[in-house]
Amino acid sequence: MPRVVSVINYKGGVGKTTITANIGAELAHRGRRVLLVDLDPQASLTFCFYTAEHWEATIQEAQTVLQWIGPLLSGGEPGALDEFVLTPPRVNEVVSANGGRLDIVASHLGLIDADQDLAIELGGSRVQVRSPNFLRVHRVLADALASPAFDDYDVILLDCPPNFGMMTRAGIVASDGVLVPARPDYLSTLGISYLRGRLSELIDDYARAAGLAGSAIHDVAPEILGVVVNMVQYAGTQPINAHQSGIRGLDPLEIKVFDQRIRQSNSLFGGSESGLPVVLAPGGNAVVQYELQQLTSEFHARIRT
Ligand SMILES: Nc1ncnc2c1ncn2[C@@H]1O[C@H](COP(=O)(O)OP(=O)(O)OP(=O)(O)O)[C@@H](O)[C@H]1O
Ligand SMILES: [Mg+2]
Repeated sequence: MPRVVSVINYKGGVGKTTITANIGAELAHRGRRVLLVDLDPQASLTFCFYTAEHWEATIQEAQTVLQWIGPLLSGGEPGALDEFVLTPPRVNEVVSANGGRLDIVASHLGLIDADQDLAIELGGSRVQVRSPNFLRVHRVLADALASPAFDDYDVILLDCPPNFGMMTRAGIVASDGVLVPARPDYLSTLGISYLRGRLSELIDDYARAAGLAGSAIHDVAPEILGVVVNMVQYAGTQPINAHQSGIRGLDPLEIKVFDQRIRQSNSLFGGSESGLPVVLAPGGNAVVQYELQQLTSEFHARIRT
């Protein structure tokens, strides 16, 4: 069975999408079969691999997570998710040389409304465990990914939006682990404890709903794989003072933190015109590429244990 990991943080712009794209691409480059699912209506992950023009012309109308989830909004069941899987050409030219593959389920801006409609169905921001649709909506992705069509993937990464809406919740329920990118600052530290609280609330709610349903559905208990400290600024060989204290601020949380941090590197994270994440881009900054490779190794070791 593939390992499913959702990449989450309430805070926007901390590098969730960047980390998802780069770890995914690097694992595929090492010969793994990787599926990325873009659960964010902003669709930034999708645009790491496709141009906006291509998305508009050939993907947006029929080939995104929005069309897949559509039937759920009208009381039906979504069809097979594997029919929505795309294989972006540019990155696969590179990774196929080593026998790897990188696939993606693309996103759509309309997903923001779908997310809200689903939440309203379950009682709004205070999701009701007793709602008859609780399990149906929360399990939508878990059930879809349990199809044998996904058995061939080694890893499935879910890029979540910066909120705790229905897409994020369904992503977490489908996951074995969660990865939390964060910036090394005080606010991020606060955000992580809040996020952890919401995560355990969701796990408890789900267990209660499953209990009420009296069904054989297993509890969910995704493991926090760790915090990835991103956008670190260096003065010489050490992070700048503010970032050192931001990193130390994670200690009291007693949460796993990846040893490998990713530095701030403005020139390199600009666009994805080439359809290749930084880690695979020819002529990319070797230091950043090395950091992303090391992070991928650490990630890979954690999902295998
Ligand atoms: N280490 C880095 N150095 C410089 N820029 C970075 C770095 N990591 C990410 N970025 C840039 O910061 C911006 C936000 O990153 P990204 O989209 O990955 O964050 P996100 O957490 O997914 O955001 P959102 O919450 O909106 O989904 C992007 O423009 C990205 O290219
Ligand atoms: Mg993102």
